[in-house]
Amino acid sequence: METKLNQIVIAAETAIKGAQSIHELMNLKSEYIGKKSEVMNVMKTLGSLSPEERPAVGKIINIAKQKIEALIDEKENDLKEKEYLKTLQDSKLDMGMPGYAIQYGSLHPLTIVWREIEDIFISMGFDIAEGYDIEDEFHNFDALNTPEDHPSRNLADTFYIKDDVLLRTQTSTVQIRTMEKYQPPIKIISPGRCYRNDRPDASHSPAFHQVEALVVDENITFQDLRDTLNTFVKKMFGSHMKSRFRPHFFPFTEPSAEIDISCVNCGGKGCAICKNSGWLEMGGAGMVDPNVLNKLGIDAEKYSGFAFGLGIDRITILKYNIPGLRILYENDIRFLKQFTFNN
Ligand code: DAH
Repeated sequence: METKLNQIVIAAETAIKGAQSIHELMNLKSEYIGKKSEVMNVMKTLGSLSPEERPAVGKIINIAKQKIEALIDEKENDLKEKEYLKTLQDSKLDMGMPGYAIQYGSLHPLTIVWREIEDIFISMGFDIAEGYDIEDEFHNFDALNTPEDHPSRNLADTFYIKDDVLLRTQTSTVQIRTMEKYQPPIKIISPGRCYRNDRPDASHSPAFHQVEALVVDENITFQDLRDTLNTFVKKMFGSHMKSRFRPHFFPFTEPSAEIDISCVNCGGKGCAICKNSGWLEMGGAGMVDPNVLNKLGIDAEKYSGFAFGLGIDRITILKYNIPGLRILYENDIRFLKQFTFNN
């Protein structure tokens, strides 16, 4: 039997050495050591041997099998290398040719501004809070003191997913979610995406971004609100910038105000961008209505707070002098490429 095995190994060696392709080699593999191969047939006869004979014979068979396997492995490496060298040659690859310059992407301008806003508020001791894009009416309207018949609750203004579920129209929802969880002192901002049923144009987009701020503690006053906003505006746009308040109404703040900043284009002198007023509208603000605090279990006798909401899209187009909101959402590479300076 040993002679027979030796003959098989010698025949296998000749055949393997002569193989011209991996395919041919694989066929030889199954012919010589596959399930139906002669080596395996010899292996099957082991059962008919006495237990004393079996280990020695088994060893001889295994040695033969291992020899063939080693020959196949060696040939396989050999063939693969030859194939690789052939592909290199056929591809006419010129290793000396200069490569293409790597094209770097850039952060979207909204992301750049979003992060800058976060950095500024973090430097003033604020935490970042997160809310949900999909909200219920309670957090988007009821808890914010918005009456049942308020026009903003209309289907024409708000995207409803089903009866009580909607895409949030404002980041003010995060004020509620934060006060549900934490007692004062609270000092958070919450940047995020909002949605309104608006037709896209230079100043409207059905999806847009706001950053909400909420501070609740003992002795928080309107002056704290003014100082915080002024500091933010100066850090964001430059120390020459000013902000001002105009009286307004929001259901969840009392008193409420709209926030303007000096026109980034003319610095306040008056131009086409600010419609000669010298001011640009940035968002809303106010002192948190005691009703809102009390409903959330925060004692309005002891604590007071301020809140504001600013448009991140608006800050972005003003900061980079971008003509309108639309291009922010069009994914135009010629536009986006201009922001690689931030990389
Ligand atoms: N959520 C308001 C809006 O989208 C903006 C706003 C106004 C936010 C007053 C506030 C605030 O926090 O106090 O129109």
